[in-house]
Amino acid sequence: MAEFVPVPTFELIVFGASGDLALRKLFPSLFHRFCDGQIPKESKIVGIARHALSREEFHEAVTNGYINLAQGEKDHPRLKEFLELIDYVALDAADENAEWNLVHDALKHDGEERVRVFYLSTPPAVFVPICHSLKTSGLATQTSRVVLEKPLGRDLHSAKAINDGVGEVFSEDRVYRIDHYLGKETVQNLLVLRFANALFEPVWSRHAIDHVQITVSEDIGVGSRGGYYDKSGAMRDMVQNHMLQLLCLVAMEPPASMDADAIRTEKIKVLRSLEPITADTIAEDTVRGQYKAGLVGDEAAPGYLEELKKYDDSLNSSSTETFVALKTHIHNWRWSGVPFYLRTGKRLASRRSEIVVQFTPPPHVLFEGESKPNQLVMRLQPDEGVEMWLQIKEPGPGGLRMKSVPLDLSYAETFTLRYPDAYERLLMDVVRGNLSLFMRRDEVEAAWIWVDRIIKAWEDKKIEPHIYTAGSDGPLASALMMDRDGRAWKEL
Ligand code: BG6
Repeated sequence: MAEFVPVPTFELIVFGASGDLALRKLFPSLFHRFCDGQIPKESKIVGIARHALSREEFHEAVTNGYINLAQGEKDHPRLKEFLELIDYVALDAADENAEWNLVHDALKHDGEERVRVFYLSTPPAVFVPICHSLKTSGLATQTSRVVLEKPLGRDLHSAKAINDGVGEVFSEDRVYRIDHYLGKETVQNLLVLRFANALFEPVWSRHAIDHVQITVSEDIGVGSRGGYYDKSGAMRDMVQNHMLQLLCLVAMEPPASMDADAIRTEKIKVLRSLEPITADTIAEDTVRGQYKAGLVGDEAAPGYLEELKKYDDSLNSSSTETFVALKTHIHNWRWSGVPFYLRTGKRLASRRSEIVVQFTPPPHVLFEGESKPNQLVMRLQPDEGVEMWLQIKEPGPGGLRMKSVPLDLSYAETFTLRYPDAYERLLMDVVRGNLSLFMRRDEVEAAWIWVDRIIKAWEDKKIEPHIYTAGSDGPLASALMMDRDGRAWKEL
């Protein structure tokens, strides 16, 4: 039985507390874990933002965030009790001379020392100033921890500057760099599937695998995040972090233990073995795309530029990519010669994240009928589960005719537990001091080195995005990239 083991009493100071992420994800996640009995009642949560809100107004924002976006009920019997834990302080956190005594006051208590966590849910430009303010104000203690939200900079240079600046206040073992994909149940299941089933290891290599496809497709557009997204694009927003983390979990060697450094050391070996995509290979091995208006399902969806205009009316053009497809290889003994294809985009035909491991076809086919290579499909969201596609005899007359069918394990049908949001597990891990699902400095920097090279090659070769219609599978060029290799993407 799944069991909620209470974490130590803590104090959590959330910067950017009135922002979208905090209200939509962090507070609802904390509330769920509070109801599950994992958060001790003596814990304290302090929201910090620049808006002049009273404690009551902030409580209302937290309540609305929970109700609107987490489908919660307003009259939840524990809500009032949970809100008692939460205070709000209005200040400019990047200002060392702000009224930090207000935060000290909010944290004052007579009980035992609590685990102190600072959560920076702010733009990365203020990570370092906030950390310095925490130091000079005396709030950062010897044992306190800091959580950094992505994006961690916009290239290697800025990521290093952030890591250096944060490192002046918090040692590496107290820095929790979040990639919320690592908090997803199904992503963690990748580790269990690979390393708790002896079945896979003998075939998990170039000897039996033809290629791997990783897709994270979204049906939503950029919505109100145009300001951030237009400076970032799908490569920085999704590939540098979530997609590369998924690739690492598929390709890494078994770690010696589940210890944080054992796992992270194996992941970084994968990142360092990635084939660089250069100006010579960029046109063949990558595709950029940007959506125009179309139909997603039955609903009319605006184009990227129309969405951007809501944020800045003067914007008439943008060459930011909302779609990326690419091919890479991992240069090591296990994977040499096996292509890894990554694809992610907004306003595509459906919301679907999955990893497809396609095995090599049998060397000699004896039977008639539909001949398809075996595939292991790990569906990360929605409709989480695992499919193993096998060839079987099509029942009935007509001789031995093959048919491809899946052995289908749906989590929803197998388990009745509520599926926790990724942030729930990650927040509790910070309090417990478990770094396994967080990125180490060298991992983030290795990912930037690989991604920066692609972005530079796009700039040098002036590779503009292909326009695709909202609700489609992305640009035709992405299908052609696979076609050139005699392969095809799994349909969205
Ligand atoms: C975020 C990106 O990190 O992940 C968003 O900034 C994206 O652009 C989101 O929509 C996807 O997360 P999920 O959990 O909905 O797959």
